[in-house]
Amino acid sequence: MQDMPSLRGRRVLLGITGGVAAYKTPELVRRLRAAQVAVRVVLSHNARQFVAAGALAAVGAEIVEDHAPGMVHIDLARWADAVLIAPATAHVLSRLAAGAADDLLTTLCLATEAPLCVAPAMNRIMWLNPATRANCTRLEERGVRFIGPGEGAQACGESGPGRMSEPDEILEALERLWAEAGALRATRAVVTAGATYEALDPARGFTNRSSGKMGYAVAAALAAHGAAVTLISGPTALPAPLGVRRIPVTSACEMRDAVWACRGAMDLFVAAAAVADYRPQTVLAHKLKKDADTLTVTLVRNPDILAEVAQLNPRPFTVGFAAETGDVEALARAKRARKGIDLIVANPIDEAGVGFAGDDNRVILIDEDRAVAWTTAPKTEIARALVREIIKRLPRTV
Ligand code: CTP
Repeated sequence: MQDMPSLRGRRVLLGITGGVAAYKTPELVRRLRAAQVAVRVVLSHNARQFVAAGALAAVGAEIVEDHAPGMVHIDLARWADAVLIAPATAHVLSRLAAGAADDLLTTLCLATEAPLCVAPAMNRIMWLNPATRANCTRLEERGVRFIGPGEGAQACGESGPGRMSEPDEILEALERLWAEAGALRATRAVVTAGATYEALDPARGFTNRSSGKMGYAVAAALAAHGAAVTLISGPTALPAPLGVRRIPVTSACEMRDAVWACRGAMDLFVAAAAVADYRPQTVLAHKLKKDADTLTVTLVRNPDILAEVAQLNPRPFTVGFAAETGDVEALARAKRARKGIDLIVANPIDEAGVGFAGDDNRVILIDEDRAVAWTTAPKTEIARALVREIIKRLPRTV
C-alpha cells in the first residue's frame, strides 16, 4: 500500500447506512487500520442487514451502540477528526440535507465540527433523481465532501452512476482532505458574493440574477483549507458555509465599505459578487407614483471594489470573475489587465445550463501567462479547483 502520512494517527467516525455496498466496509476498515487510523463505527439499523458488527470488530473497528448511555453523540462528535458515511444511502443524504437528528449518526453529524465526507451508493436513477440532486447540492453548499460515486455495474442489475467508491479511493480522498487542510492556515481571505441591491425607493430597486452560489462555494473551499474567511455577501437565501464569518450587505457602497474595513488584514481577495455598476443618484424617501407616462432615473457609477483593492499597497493576491457574452476569453483578458489583478475566472452567461442561477459553470482561468478552459462542472467542484490554483500562485510569504 502507498504511504499516506496525513492519515497516520487520525480518528475516523465511520457511519454505515443500509445499502448493499456496506459489504465493502470491513475491507475499508482494514485499510484504515493498516494506515494507523483509529476507527469507531456507528451502524444504522438497516446496515446490519448487509454487514455484521462482528466482521467490523474483527478487523479493528470499535463498534458504538446506538443505545449507549450518556452524551455519546457529543463525545463522538468531539472525538472524530472526520466523519465518513460509507455507504451513504439516498435516505441518509435526504435526512442530512434536512438537518434531521433522529438517530445517533445524524445527531452526531449535527453536533460535530469535523469535516463530513459521504460516499454515496444507490441505483443510478435514484442518484440522478432531482430530489437527490437537490439534497447533494445543499450538502455540498454546506461543505460536505462527496467521495464518488463511481459508474459501472450495480447490484440492481443496471449500469450507471451510483456505485460506492472502492476503499482505495476513499482512503485517497481522506488523505487529500488532511493534506490540503492546512495549506491556507496563515491566510486571511475576503470573498464577495451575490448580487447587490441598489434601492430606488422604499419598495423598489435594481439588482441582477446572480445567486451567490459561486462565491459561497469559494468561501467554503478556502475555509476547508484552513483560511480565515470573511464572506461579504449581498442578499441571498444561501446558508453561511461552516467556519466562515459572513457580513451581510445590501448595496455596492456597503459592500465596498465592508471590504475596505478588512484592507489591513487581507492576504487574498476573491471578488465573486455581481456588483451593480450604477445606483440611482437619489434614493426616494417615499414610494414612487406612476404620474407620468415615462420615467427617467439618473444612475451614478458605483465604486469598482476589485479595482480599488488591486491598487492597495501592499496588495493582497486578487482574483476576479468575468461573466461575459460573446468572445468571453478576450473580454476577460482585457478586464484582468485593466483592473490589474492576478487571476480572472471568465464564464459565459449566454450558454444554456451554466452561469448565473444554475449549479454548474464553465470557466476559463486566465493569469498573466495563459488561459486554460475547464470543462463544465458543478460550482462547488470549480471552487475547489480554483482554490488549488490559488494555493499554487500565492506568494510564499503569505
Ligand atoms: N467588481 C467589483 N466592483 C464593481 C464591479 C465589479 O468588485 N463595482 C468585480 C466583480 O466582483 C468581478 C469583476 O469585478 O470579480 C468583474 O465584474 P464585471 O461585472 O464582469 O465587470 P465590470 O468591472 O463591471 O465591467 P463591465 O460591466 O464593463 O464588463
